[in-house]
Amino acid sequence: VSLQGLNTLAVPAKARYFADITTADELEAALDWARENGQQTLVLGGGSNLVFAGDFNGLVLHMALRGRTWEQVREDDAVLVLAAGENWHDAVLYAARSGYRGIENLALIPGTAGAAPVQNIGAYGVELCDTLKTVTALDRTTMEVVELPAADCEFAYRDSLFKHQPGRYIILEIRLALSRTEPMKLGYRDLQEYLGCEETDQLTPLAVAEAVMAVRRRKLPDPAVLPNAGSFFKNPVVSQAQFEDIVSRFPDVVSYPVAEGVKLAAAWLIDQAGWKGYRNATVGVHNRQALVLINHSGGSGQDILALAQEVRESVRNKFGVGLEQEPGIVGN
Ligand code: EPU
Repeated sequence: VSLQGLNTLAVPAKARYFADITTADELEAALDWARENGQQTLVLGGGSNLVFAGDFNGLVLHMALRGRTWEQVREDDAVLVLAAGENWHDAVLYAARSGYRGIENLALIPGTAGAAPVQNIGAYGVELCDTLKTVTALDRTTMEVVELPAADCEFAYRDSLFKHQPGRYIILEIRLALSRTEPMKLGYRDLQEYLGCEETDQLTPLAVAEAVMAVRRRKLPDPAVLPNAGSFFKNPVVSQAQFEDIVSRFPDVVSYPVAEGVKLAAAWLIDQAGWKGYRNATVGVHNRQALVLINHSGGSGQDILALAQEVRESVRNKFGVGLEQEPGIVGN
């Protein structure tokens, strides 16, 4: 089964076996089959945060569980329940149109609701963990369905329990605590500039979601047009001493303080290393956001990974900073 249409980098890859999963029972049956037949499994959502280095020699479980429901609606607060296969961006618009705030800054992030907690998606000053209440998942060590409170999910910047214990949990459903009255976060520079001097206290969550969409579209490529996997690297954190050394050589470095040291804008580092807009025969670096690698014409996962390696080495040579890859690598 071809996976080319199921990964947003659109690299060619095949799955030996493939199952669309629409219920928890189907999931359990597919896992039983895989165990009985000695097949490894890969859980696939929107395919927007992985690179197929080659074919997957096992069973791909394509998470297609659907459903959006409201729970615990009282006065200005409500809990939105999303099945794992729901499209994330559609859910953002649905919540915003219903007048609920909390995830409007996360508009246009590709992928599914079930994948969102894995990397704790974040943009424009908001992270999923700011509103996430619980994650319902199948724990493969016990084959029981568990409901994990957000506090147990080890959330951090682009990180979670689901990355720390890969393969253990298969996410079935997430619960988000939303509100009609909570102040929205409009402070991220690009968003603030776009909104300008508008009366921000009059803004609806839908208007903010639309502003985020406009801001994203200016810089971030639509995977349907230019296949990509979003930010290919995390923004690295360096020590205060290392930062002072870098800033003495590169006074314009884009940075902000965090608890563990200083976080640098990986996009700025890559841009300064001369990569923005670069392209070879198949793949390249986006010309408006240097953090995004693009599959321009028929590139393979290996082509993307080779480019990522070159980018990483040149940033290390110029700045002495290592970049950590964001999307996972699968296949062989
Ligand atoms: N910059 C450059 N060159 C570029 C792009 C950006 O110098 O080519 C500079 C900008 O001028 C800015 C700084 O780098 O001062 C940061 O850029 P931006 O505001 O675009 O944010 P980012 O840190 O590069 C992060 C997320 C994005 C998210 C944006 C907005 C990570 C790895 N990436 O990017 O997430 O949309 O902030 O919140 O944290 C994703 O994960 O797929 C993703 C797109």
